[in-house]
Amino acid sequence: MPIQVLNQGTEFVLTAGGASYALGLVESGYLVHRHFGSAVREAPPWPLRVIAAGRPFSPTVLPGRDDFSLDVLPQEYPTYGRGDFRTPALKIRGADGNAVTEVRFQNHEVVPGRPPLPGLPHLRVFPESGSSLVLRGEDPYTGLRVELTYCALNDLPVIGRSVRLINAGDRPLVIERAFSASLDLPVSRFDAVTLNGAWGRERHLTRVPLGPGVRAIQSGRGASGHQANPFLALADPDATEEHGEVRALSWLYSGNFWAGAEVSQFGTTRLQIGLNPEEFCWRLEPGEEFVTPEAVLAFSSAGFQGMSDTFHDLVREHVMPESWGHRERPIVLNNWEATYFQFTEPKLLELATVAADVGVEMFVLDDGWFGARNNDLKALGDWQVNREKLPGGIAGLAGRIHDLGLKFGLWVEPEMISPDSDLARAHPDWALGVPGRTRSEGRHQWVLDLSRDDVADWMIGWLDDLLTRAPIDYIKWDMNRNMSEVGSALAAPERQGETSYRYLLGLYRVLGELTARHPEVLFESCSGGGGRFDLGMLFFMPQTWTSDDSDAIERLAIQHGTSLVYPPIAMAAHVSAVPNHQMGRVTPLATRGWVAMSANFGYELDLTRLPAEELAEIREQTRQYRKVRSLVQFGRFRRLLSPVGNNDAAWMFVDEKADEALVVWVNRLGEVNGAVHWLRLRDLDSGRRYRILRLAGPEGWDGPETMGGDALMGIGLPSLYRRDFQVSAFHLVAED
Ligand code: GLA
Repeated sequence: MPIQVLNQGTEFVLTAGGASYALGLVESGYLVHRHFGSAVREAPPWPLRVIAAGRPFSPTVLPGRDDFSLDVLPQEYPTYGRGDFRTPALKIRGADGNAVTEVRFQNHEVVPGRPPLPGLPHLRVFPESGSSLVLRGEDPYTGLRVELTYCALNDLPVIGRSVRLINAGDRPLVIERAFSASLDLPVSRFDAVTLNGAWGRERHLTRVPLGPGVRAIQSGRGASGHQANPFLALADPDATEEHGEVRALSWLYSGNFWAGAEVSQFGTTRLQIGLNPEEFCWRLEPGEEFVTPEAVLAFSSAGFQGMSDTFHDLVREHVMPESWGHRERPIVLNNWEATYFQFTEPKLLELATVAADVGVEMFVLDDGWFGARNNDLKALGDWQVNREKLPGGIAGLAGRIHDLGLKFGLWVEPEMISPDSDLARAHPDWALGVPGRTRSEGRHQWVLDLSRDDVADWMIGWLDDLLTRAPIDYIKWDMNRNMSEVGSALAAPERQGETSYRYLLGLYRVLGELTARHPEVLFESCSGGGGRFDLGMLFFMPQTWTSDDSDAIERLAIQHGTSLVYPPIAMAAHVSAVPNHQMGRVTPLATRGWVAMSANFGYELDLTRLPAEELAEIREQTRQYRKVRSLVQFGRFRRLLSPVGNNDAAWMFVDEKADEALVVWVNRLGEVNGAVHWLRLRDLDSGRRYRILRLAGPEGWDGPETMGGDALMGIGLPSLYRRDFQVSAFHLVAED
């Protein structure tokens, strides 16, 4: 029974993939959080004097009832201004100017699947894959109606939460804060785990113990951002990869967010995610409704590995566009770091010819193919092909690339406009901006105002036309600056605070239309690398350019952190030139190869300049990748050694039946006369024997040709004398 309604409709237990989420109603309609964790049949409705007793300086909301303070009560959707001084989830300013908000829940409904979330990315849930509890409440004073939806998946320990607000009163309301999820956990001994960084070093794992007060991550950049991924996990302090409880939060949204954990004065923890109130307010006229993005709560009793398995399955099965979670991704050559803006058609064809010869499967033309775009100073918005560079147009080039036996992909950055562009000259009001102030520039560009229907329609029009006229197999959708002066020329003053959210709704409409009209095109999202790596984007575009930093050693921490939430099939990783263009490091081709082969693989360098030995090595890499591709893209991912604070990083892929595994192990610095290091594997079949194919590693390996799964897991594989940036890679195949 995924959703149980108990105690005359006042207690609810949702069971999702072996985890339970329980909540209840007390005192005529306050919604109480009871449990989120391991499976339970019921969660006791503890007496109020245990969970809500009024304390000094904690007001009692019901006159005379000292056993009941909202400041103490573990809540599900706390509101502002009624004596709960922790961070609220909902704050509505009414027509008389105050923002005191209160919701009493009166009724519930259990529905198969999940009610639609119009215009927003959402978990793909069908009646056979999950069911939802909908709780309906009201603020009797303002007439605001609130609908909380909890979607429990059958196959995974995941609850999706979203909120619908309806103004059923007769005066306008202003939503100042509407989070998607909030829950009060009864204890506070947690480590907060987040993925932080900056451009070029995204999603490095951060783990800090919670203390009194708020530990929050956020974005006000109009995109989820390089700095903090919309992901926050609370882990047992002793949780490891394989052991301990982890509760994690993310959401299907790509714009501003706030996610936090607040330890209260009484040692409870409020865990929340929602639209960042800093850049949001929404006017709700009588009869109008507002829907929040969908939050995702995941529980693991098997450490971070259990959590990642859940997220990886979730992304493949319930987030990515249907079928893309199971479709092989091609080996790419992207011309960006090979030529930057300086290319000609013969140069591209020369590159593609070598690429085809070494086993690449798709050629991608990056920035610079349109308008006067010969550098990054201008021409975003002028999406007519530059016939000087490409006399046959995109269709002509795509045809010639196809003739070489390669697929063809193209870069676009549709959301941006260069001040120096024909588009900006024709439509100066199409960019986000506010009256009387200059528009800030980022990479010499402004942001198109996608909160406007006319701009979104124009975007759908030219992209649909491009995809219809030319045989394009893949689109890299870039977004190279964050938003400032977020205002819309068409919005009334009292609606300006809606622009950020309306922008994302506009973007999602564009992406929804284009992906529906061109379902065979593989879309990859990008924002200066991984500046918009989130579940909202993956709902439309099933892979993301992980980082502009393609240095193999830097990628260890980036791909490690990213793997906490996102499966390798969601990440693109390319071999680039040495010295590396971002940071000058020189690493062996084998190391660059195996790090990139641990995701959706490709190259981003001038193949025509490589010596014959390197081309031969690349030919061998593409051959090996084809052999292990299904393991990498569809197998289980295991983090064996963390690069955080360590010299080594190692990981493996293993298929569901443990027939086969791929192990990759990289050290940063080498050692003279050093120790022998051992790497113990996981999730093999202890009763089977595996043939060991050593694909890369230091000279002098003389290891056994086969080993039992038990020995591989219990003793491990050794690494001998190592140089700087050394990689070892092993392909294990069960013998019987
Ligand atoms: C961004 C992307 C790069 C490349 C350039 C092109 O920086 O992340 O991969 O596409 O834009 O301008």
